[in-house]
Amino acid sequence: MSKRIAGAVVLSIAGTFGAAGFAADSAPQGEQAVFTASGELTVPTDYREWVFLSTGYGMTYSPAANDHKMFTNVFVAPWAYRSFLQSGKWPDRTVFVLEERDSKGKGSIVAGGQFQGDLMGLDVEVKDESRFPEKWAYFPFSGDKPVRAQPQQNCWQCHEDHAAVEHSFVQFSPTLQPVAKKFGTWRDR
Ligand code: HEC
Repeated sequence: MSKRIAGAVVLSIAGTFGAAGFAADSAPQGEQAVFTASGELTVPTDYREWVFLSTGYGMTYSPAANDHKMFTNVFVAPWAYRSFLQSGKWPDRTVFVLEERDSKGKGSIVAGGQFQGDLMGLDVEVKDESRFPEKWAYFPFSGDKPVRAQPQQNCWQCHEDHAAVEHSFVQFSPTLQPVAKKFGTWRDR
């Protein structure tokens, strides 16, 4: 093999690996949904190192007012976030976590306003086209115990009917909205 051809081969191999490295098309360790042998989802452990999307405060979806308002912090697996930035779509195997936290008004030097307190619950949403016929599945955690996917009417249907991008509520993530609009995946909801 001439030196020049050998160089070209090396370059093309480097190009292939380089492209795979940046394509963000598979979930690295710690950014995947982990299921038990019986198909329950285990609670995500590293999500606090994922990408933060937004926080809701006291959001309710029915006229019945909820007296005690909570914060909801939304995180998404970083590899899926990077893929979304390049396409406006969520790749297969995307995982979202919505963390519910108590809101507090008293403590330390606080004279007004609300800040976040204890963890009250964890809602997880997984896109997995081969595992779930409806593509998206929903898991409400109230502790460390693995959770089975919820029946469609509990979670899936509301996300199906009201989410702006596929099943995700991008309408409440101000930095993702322009991305979805740019790629034409946005729906007014
Ligand atoms: C009545 C409508 C409704 C139902 C039912 C519902 N959700 Fe949601 N969900 C929302 C809204 C609205 C948001 C956006 C909240 C925010 O961004 O703070 C959301 C956000 C989420 C997110 C963050 C990612 C995203 O899609 O934006 C997860 C995870 C989630 N929900 C899981 C669940 C689970 C698990 C259940 C069932 C136990 C459930 N949801 C039931 C309306 C609903």
